[in-house]
Amino acid sequence: MEDDSVVTAKHSVLEIFSDLDASQLDSIEQWICSHSYKKDLEHFKALQNSEKMLIKIGNSIKKIVPFEAEMPSEVITPPMVGDQSDCNKVNTLHVDEFLYDEMEVNDLVKKGKLKRRYCRDCTSRNVQDLIYISHSMSRQALKYIFKVQLPKELEDKQILDVGSRLGAVLYGAYYFSNAGTIIGIEMNEECCDVQKRIIEQHSLDSNRIKVVHSDVMERSDLVANSDIIIINILEFFVDHEKHKEMWYFFKKHIKKGTYLICNRSMNDTLANLDIFEEFLNWLSICKPNQMENEIFFDVEDYSELYLYTVN
Ligand SMILES: C[S@@+](CC[C@H](N)C(=O)[O-])C[C@H]1O[C@@H](n2cnc3c(N)ncnc32)[C@H](O)[C@@H]1O
Repeated sequence: MEDDSVVTAKHSVLEIFSDLDASQLDSIEQWICSHSYKKDLEHFKALQNSEKMLIKIGNSIKKIVPFEAEMPSEVITPPMVGDQSDCNKVNTLHVDEFLYDEMEVNDLVKKGKLKRRYCRDCTSRNVQDLIYISHSMSRQALKYIFKVQLPKELEDKQILDVGSRLGAVLYGAYYFSNAGTIIGIEMNEECCDVQKRIIEQHSLDSNRIKVVHSDVMERSDLVANSDIIIINILEFFVDHEKHKEMWYFFKKHIKKGTYLICNRSMNDTLANLDIFEEFLNWLSICKPNQMENEIFFDVEDYSELYLYTVN
């Protein structure tokens, strides 16, 4: 008699197989018979372990930041232009995706601790969906950046996260890649303190991961020496003019061949700032470097992550 869990697993496999045609089944059969699935399974489990470390870090951060993960010293203002210019205090809520994944958000909604809608005029049925924004990258996005988009071998590379906030990108780089140097630069001191506390509390190797409290525009050296630069949307934190200056600064200092990762297309970012023409030919869009790892992801979720190289 077969063990119950084997029976259940076989049933699940049959359900999946029933949706495949003959040639798709052939390639699965080859994957299993050639035993290459074993290597993939090992890799998959390693990824799950890295994710557990990030969840642990997220749980520590939740204990030291307010629920909305915005610091008392911060001035966070919705942008005047672009796709998020409709955000305001009434219709928008910050739910940090690194701290709360979709399942946790659903759970918080069920428990009534988080609302999805707001009333437009206090007559109960005329409600509107709240806009949820996140100032941090989710674990899923980080996994995609380091396991699919970037090259595998990063041992001699320096990664810079511009505006490292709670440190999500730094921890992602630490656990999902072998990058030799991981630097976060952040202008808000309270955010820097959170990152430093977490690095110490979780005994992360301080030779490998560092946090610098500064405006990035004061540290052209760090920008010029980095091989990979990650820039999550900045516009809630700087005004239109400063945002423009930052892109001129990046264009001046980021060296040729550097990988740049953004969670909005550069076309949209630069067009919103009205400086698109001046940046023509600065960047080339790149294909992911580790396509083979796409079996570990639901790829459709990552259309918002853009990988460029500097020409
Ligand atoms: C959207 S958050 C990004 C957080 C993090 N990189 C991530 O993706 O999870 C942007 C952060 O950039 C910081 N920031 C904005 N302009 C900056 C500047 N000129 N120098 C340093 N940090 C800056 C803000 O304080 C904010 O914490």
